[in-house]
Amino acid sequence: MQTGERKPIAVVTGASRGIGAAIALRLAREGYHLILNYGSSEEKARQLQTLIQAGGGKAELCQFDVANSAQVNEKFDWIAKTFGKVSVLVNNAGISIDGLLIRMKDEDLEKVLSVDLKGAIYCTRAAANHMMRERKGSIIQISSVIGEMGNAGQGAYAAAKAGLIGFSKSIAKELGSRQVRVNVVTPGFIATDMTGVLTDAQKEDILRTVPLGFLGEPEDVAALVAFLASPASRYLTGQVIGVNGGMYM
Ligand SMILES: NC(=O)c1ccc[n+]([C@@H]2O[C@H](COP(=O)([O-])OP(=O)(O)OC[C@H]3O[C@@H](n4cnc5c(N)ncnc54)[C@H](OP(=O)(O)O)[C@@H]3O)[C@@H](O)[C@H]2O)c1
Repeated sequence: MQTGERKPIAVVTGASRGIGAAIALRLAREGYHLILNYGSSEEKARQLQTLIQAGGGKAELCQFDVANSAQVNEKFDWIAKTFGKVSVLVNNAGISIDGLLIRMKDEDLEKVLSVDLKGAIYCTRAAANHMMRERKGSIIQISSVIGEMGNAGQGAYAAAKAGLIGFSKSIAKELGSRQVRVNVVTPGFIATDMTGVLTDAQKEDILRTVPLGFLGEPEDVAALVAFLASPASRYLTGQVIGVNGGMYM
């Protein structure tokens, strides 16, 4: 990127922690102007903003609940008016509420589908509206290996993450003629707060299913996202790419 050139805007949802924070940091290093969405972890989002700015990057804070479509539309309009058109959207915000099917509560199912699936759809719709007019854009969905292979006790999470794959393939077909690309990243087990709740025994069980033999780091996901955001991946759309140490092939 030339000095003085306007940096392209990248929105990362759930950028306050874990994989989202690593993606935001990486995209900032690649020269993007970051919009850091967070839900409730304002302090962490602010620390990340300071870190990016200290490295000479640009980053803005943007609080909204991805599961609230009115808030999403309002914030994407604000981003476009204040900073410019969004070039890259990374739908990373996610939660997991695990439990066996027969004990699954309606409100937990609703919550997981609302954040992990509907939230990504709302943000995709809001960003695509701007990207289509610009005739360029890259949308990257953070799904999960669980959406591809399933896991006992994660039915709601798997439904949301598998739904995101079907949605993204449909939208890739809809938006391709406008040069807006949509790809899905499916991480395996990555060391973050989300997997921090697992016991050592559970981690050992998981590691036995990972040919490479170690848990991934958020930076492993961020490296793939940086490629999918960049023009180097200009001929990829509608693809589902695993970052899982070989856990699912
Ligand atoms: N870790 C893994 O092994 C793994 C594997 C496969 C897929 N994934 C997926 O990767 C993504 C990131 O996971 P992670 O492990 O980094 O999780 P994490 O450490 O728990 O972080 C989740 C992030 O999502 C944000 N978030 C949650 N609900 C939100 C909402 N309603 N609106 C806006 N932001 C919201 C959180 O923000 P606040 O704290 O500010 O609310 C936080 O920044 C998720 O979609 C997850 O399903 C993770």
